[in-house]
Amino acid sequence: MLKLSNVTKRFGALVAVNDLGFTVEKGQIFGIAGPNGAGKSTVYNLITGFYDFEGSIRFDGKEISGLKPHQIAQLGISRTFQIPQTFPSLTVEQSIDVGNRFGNRRRYDPKRIEKIIDFVELKDQRRELTGTLNLLGKKKLMIGAALATDPKILMLDEPMAGSNAHEIKALMELIQRMNEELGITIIIIEHFMKVLTELTQALLIIETGTEICCGDPVEVTNDPRVIECYLGGDDD
Ligand SMILES: Nc1ncnc2c1ncn2[C@@H]1O[C@H](COP(=O)(O)OP(=O)(O)OP(=O)(O)O)[C@@H](O)[C@H]1O
Ligand SMILES: [Mg+2]
Repeated sequence: MLKLSNVTKRFGALVAVNDLGFTVEKGQIFGIAGPNGAGKSTVYNLITGFYDFEGSIRFDGKEISGLKPHQIAQLGISRTFQIPQTFPSLTVEQSIDVGNRFGNRRRYDPKRIEKIIDFVELKDQRRELTGTLNLLGKKKLMIGAALATDPKILMLDEPMAGSNAHEIKALMELIQRMNEELGITIIIIEHFMKVLTELTQALLIIETGTEICCGDPVEVTNDPRVIECYLGGDDD
């Protein structure tokens, strides 16, 4: 469904993504992990059309490099950001409506907003300003706004960051429900290995923009190269 081949991104002298390739199959939950600064968020920025790059990214067999971010969103690729971004002066339902109006491949449909608010379990807070939501609420809202664009692939950037065990459980369930009930293919960048081994069917580890290992999540997390790369990261 999504295939990156020989993707390289340079910021001046820095090679943030270095000859990277991977394939995400339809219906999968695909994980990406690696030390800080490994290039994970940059991969999302390349897939969503924020920067030029060398190499190829194909979505449903079509080359998407060179397309603008809104064109890529219209094809059905949506994302959330590492730091929850909400519109503090809008209510929960207004915020989800923004996603619906801007990104939606289908016609505007207020009933869909209703369904999404239900799906992310924000019904009781629907008329509250987004600024009043707690961290879990903000994260559910950001996911709801992404769902409003009606994505085929949803890319989550460290959705568990800063969350406690209860919040992590709630977010994992939400991710699983999006995958199973809505049929959305998911890519997730995450530091918590336990979350990745429980949720994903395939896991890619990158370091300094380069693939260390990719495959079955349990095998990957037990791979000596991966253990080494994480221990090495801690020493910095
Ligand atoms: N717009 C940019 N201009 C210059 N350098 C950048 C830019 N975006 C990212 N970088 C650099 O590219 C490298 C990879 O950054 P990136 O944000 O993709 O890492 P990451 O794996 O998401 O890290 P983290 O786990 O901390 O979120 C870093 O060295 C970063 O400083
Ligand atoms: Mg990042």
